[in-house]
Amino acid sequence: PKPVILDCDPGHDDVFAIWLAAGDPEIDLRAITTVGGNGLLSHTTYNARVVTGLAGITGVPIAPGAAGPLVRVLTPAESIHGANALGGPELPEPAVDEDPRTAVELIRDVLDAAGEPVTIVATGPLTNIALFVRAHPERLPLVREVVWMGGSTGRGNITPYAEFNAWTDPEAVAVVLGSGLPFTMIGLNVTHQVLVTPGVVARIGAAGTRTAAFGVELLTFFNSTYERDQGMPAGPLHDPVAMALVARPELLTTVETRIDVELHGTETAGATSVDLLGKLGREPNARVATGVDVEGFWQLLEAAVRTLS
Ligand code: BDR
Ligand code: CA
Repeated sequence: PKPVILDCDPGHDDVFAIWLAAGDPEIDLRAITTVGGNGLLSHTTYNARVVTGLAGITGVPIAPGAAGPLVRVLTPAESIHGANALGGPELPEPAVDEDPRTAVELIRDVLDAAGEPVTIVATGPLTNIALFVRAHPERLPLVREVVWMGGSTGRGNITPYAEFNAWTDPEAVAVVLGSGLPFTMIGLNVTHQVLVTPGVVARIGAAGTRTAAFGVELLTFFNSTYERDQGMPAGPLHDPVAMALVARPELLTTVETRIDVELHGTETAGATSVDLLGKLGREPNARVATGVDVEGFWQLLEAAVRTLS
């Protein structure tokens, strides 16, 4: 299995990225780091502890990172995820403790101990990864790749042109893109194909476990807010698609291309400019997902959830 660090802001869909990572045999989840994004850092960290403990995931350290973006002010995604970033189910007391290290320290330690390159999957704003790049440029060769759910080759969801994770901390996106780390973007153009239909909810629930029941409550809440906020009655389960790329690369189609991020636009700040036609004459700096095997993805997620408590 591939060693993976998951940097996240749970968040309903982040939870499924955690569960996919913990339940899939191709992934060796070494650490979870949290960031302010969908909710305040206190909430996203607490939520990570709740959903790991609930699912019986042990031995995976959870460390909090940045409370907010590098230079901007955090605006949590309350309209989608609720005031605590995990609206819907009642949250049990977390059975897992917080690690005493910061996210950057934990990432450093996991990389140093691994003895092989480690993949970082990021499913929130890229703040922690940018801080890691700045703090430890000497350790970038220890990172196999950064796979990020964020951005879009088309339009956005939090503004007409910007996706939420990119819009929250575009400066962090620029730092990571500029670092030379191998980078793969899984944007809305792909995640909007992975829709939580009633059939999907039923399949997850059919596992019959505590985790599955909690998952159904999450998905039900998520669909209700997506319908109200985005006009989508079946919400797109963005974040586990990034983990799926690591677990089963063949489920996604990707192209090598150029990504730049808008830092100064008056209407477009946080937009990802993806040069699919190669018009800008710049060196490619990333892989960008352009397609996904939707049924294959749900099978993967369902199988992973079935392994949990
Ligand atoms: C992204 O924003 C968050 O609300 C989700 O967790 C996902 O990471 C989608 O735009
Ligand atoms: Ca997220």
